[in-house]
Amino acid sequence: MTKNLVIIGAQFGDEGKGKFIDLLAHSFDGVVRFQGGHNAGHTIVVAGKKTILHLLPSGILHDNLKCFIGNGVVVSLSALFEEITLLEENGISVRDRIYVSNNCSLILPYHCALDAARENKMGKAAIGTTRRGIGPAYEDKVARRGLRVCDLLSHKTLEEKLRNLADYHSFVLQNYYNVEVPDFGVVLDELQTYAKMIQPMIIDVAAVLEDYRQQGKKLLFEGAQGAMLDIDLGTYPFVTSSNTTMGAVGSGCGFGPLYVDAVLGVVKAYTTRVGAGPFPTECLDDIGEDIRMRGGEFGSTTGRPRRCGWLDMVMLRRAVAVNSLTHIGLTKLDILDNLEKIKICVAYQLNGKKLTSPPLINDELAQCEPIYEEFPGWMEATSGITDFVKLPPNAQKYIQRIEELSGVPIAMIGTGPDRKDTILKMNMFFRACSTQV
Ligand code: GDP
Ligand code: IMO
Ligand code: MG
Repeated sequence: MTKNLVIIGAQFGDEGKGKFIDLLAHSFDGVVRFQGGHNAGHTIVVAGKKTILHLLPSGILHDNLKCFIGNGVVVSLSALFEEITLLEENGISVRDRIYVSNNCSLILPYHCALDAARENKMGKAAIGTTRRGIGPAYEDKVARRGLRVCDLLSHKTLEEKLRNLADYHSFVLQNYYNVEVPDFGVVLDELQTYAKMIQPMIIDVAAVLEDYRQQGKKLLFEGAQGAMLDIDLGTYPFVTSSNTTMGAVGSGCGFGPLYVDAVLGVVKAYTTRVGAGPFPTECLDDIGEDIRMRGGEFGSTTGRPRRCGWLDMVMLRRAVAVNSLTHIGLTKLDILDNLEKIKICVAYQLNGKKLTSPPLINDELAQCEPIYEEFPGWMEATSGITDFVKLPPNAQKYIQRIEELSGVPIAMIGTGPDRKDTILKMNMFFRACSTQV
């Protein structure tokens, strides 16, 4: 049985991580976010009731389960408390079991203003960010001028630190972007109010996770975004501003990487991307539109239509390698139910050459033509199937081919949005083999 499991997105985000994390969470003692911020939108559906989480770990719907926000996460206090309040209004207790690292960087109104101003100025060349201030907050962290959660505990120095940061960003906002600058007094007041509210949740997450490990407790690490949005390994500059790959677990919450036992990459049975950037297998025809409508492919955070296309094995193989994936969780198989033919991209064609890995010059990815393997569809409903052998033979063949091409076993398969719409092909992630789906 797996003790410590990492679940990450293996494509461009929105693969369905939230659903699998929620499904497995009851078998763990804690769920830990380690990067990203409220740019994430993780959807969980339980008995038809939908919850979208942005900053809170996807284990939060399970009573008594402890949830941690590690130091690698950038935290918007307004977003955090909005989310907590919403859940509490729905009868879910949160404040007594959410813990936030003292070392998390804060997202401030200046960061949101900068994110929006830059995107607006870039016009057609914009990255298509979620405008949540993620990039500017990470920039301040790396520049060593950012505010962190621990700064909220020191009343004396908070105002001075905020003043320095406000002056720095206000100059650019005012003089370069010609936009309104957030009011310093309002920002400070809000921070001081939130400081009191967050104080009981602030802990040394790394130390507590080490205690858990020593006590033999099980931890589930929840990635946000996806491998191809990684700041270093993704389709730069059309990426997010954090490392989204498995290596970020160590630096993002202080849990030693060698204590991780398995890494599950979540993969949609096709590909989607929200925001700009290269997408070789994108379907700009009726098939793309059909997948978008059937799959409800609209952003969980911004509501933007997601771009849709075929599964891309060149990218998936890269994701397998850089994350040391031990398993794949395949989602949204049911969305392909009505297709006569299904394609998988197995290589790219660029300037007359066949490539089996992404091109050296990042910009050339947009010019890569996919080389496809084609499969007959199954043309019957798989929605809600929970038993692998009950899948139509062509669906089974499609899954087996993904395993062969990626070299990674598929442990679970999603056949619908609900927690229960899941095929458990392997179930070593569950405590005492109980599935409770
Ligand atoms: P995440 O960011 O990776 O957690 O994914 P999102 O929540 O942004 O997007 C995934 C969407 O697909 C959500 O609307 C889920 O409810 C839905 N979903 C997840 N798995 C399945 C599945 O197997 N079948 C179907 N039809 N929907 C799914
Ligand atoms: P989850 O966790 C899909 C994308 C944005 C944009 C780029 C940079 O739900 O899978 P940012 O606001 O991070 O600076 O935007 O990254 N992006 C996501 N796409 N799923 C996400 O999260 C994403 N988080 C950011 O659309 O292209
Ligand atoms: Mg999402």
